[in-house]
Amino acid sequence: MKENEILTNATTWIKEAGERIVQSFQTTLSIETKTNANDLVTNIDKDTEKFFIAKIKEKYPKHRVLGEEGNGDRLEELKGIVWIIDPIDGTMNFIHQHRNFAISIGIYEDGVGKIGLIYDVVQDELYYALKGKGAFFNGVPLPKLTSVNISEAIIGLNATWVTPNRRIDPSILGALVRDVRGTRSYGSAAIEIAQVAAGRLDAYMTLRLSPWDFAAGLILIEEVGGVASTLKGEPIQLLEQNTIFISRPGLHEQILKNYLYGKI
Ligand code: IPD
Ligand code: CA
Ligand code: CA
Ligand code: CA
Repeated sequence: MKENEILTNATTWIKEAGERIVQSFQTTLSIETKTNANDLVTNIDKDTEKFFIAKIKEKYPKHRVLGEEGNGDRLEELKGIVWIIDPIDGTMNFIHQHRNFAISIGIYEDGVGKIGLIYDVVQDELYYALKGKGAFFNGVPLPKLTSVNISEAIIGLNATWVTPNRRIDPSILGALVRDVRGTRSYGSAAIEIAQVAAGRLDAYMTLRLSPWDFAAGLILIEEVGGVASTLKGEPIQLLEQNTIFISRPGLHEQILKNYLYGKI
């Protein structure tokens, strides 16, 4: 794969897509619900995905695309070069706040993550990683992550998971919430994973994410020596929905051992 050329093109396209999204703030959005009343999609999510697919197919006709809004290819495996795209991660924030959302693009070759980009559109902040060459924040290399004690950790966690819900006994993560220094919830999984990569959050966990939510983030995390697994500590399956637990090394082990093993 021509990593540098692909990264340059992906960066140009992601910034252009970002400008188009910002321009859309002046227009009336068409908002639809998907699986439930809080699962939203807009015409801009769909247009942004189509924008990337048109650019990719024109320049790289053999590359395949997996996009959240379903305009790409139907994928059953990850052979060849595959772009996994979330055109707007944090659609609810996009609609309600006009901020705190990102474009997430993970580029895989034969199932191996090669290039990851997460672009916080309104802040104009680009996180990207190239396999084996490190991760960067606005062009500045991100340092390797080191461990921190649970009592000094800030974790990204949605309040849903510590109140009665369908997926997890709230007392499990409730115990962790009591012991950490603080919790945060940003409403965009891609931004939350990028924050862990940048050392601004020490861990992030959630009960269900799809490939486009984490495809780019996993590449960033690997480049800074972070750990990514399911909440059971098992490997994440790239083409499936997973529980997700991303963390600094060391802290990941402490949390698994003291709060999660045997309980999930
Ligand atoms: C959602 C966001 C949110 C996470 C949800 C995702 P979307 O993505 O990442 O933070 O909690 O699980 O579905 O729908 O805004 O692309
Ligand atoms: Ca969505
Ligand atoms: Ca998403
Ligand atoms: Ca989305």
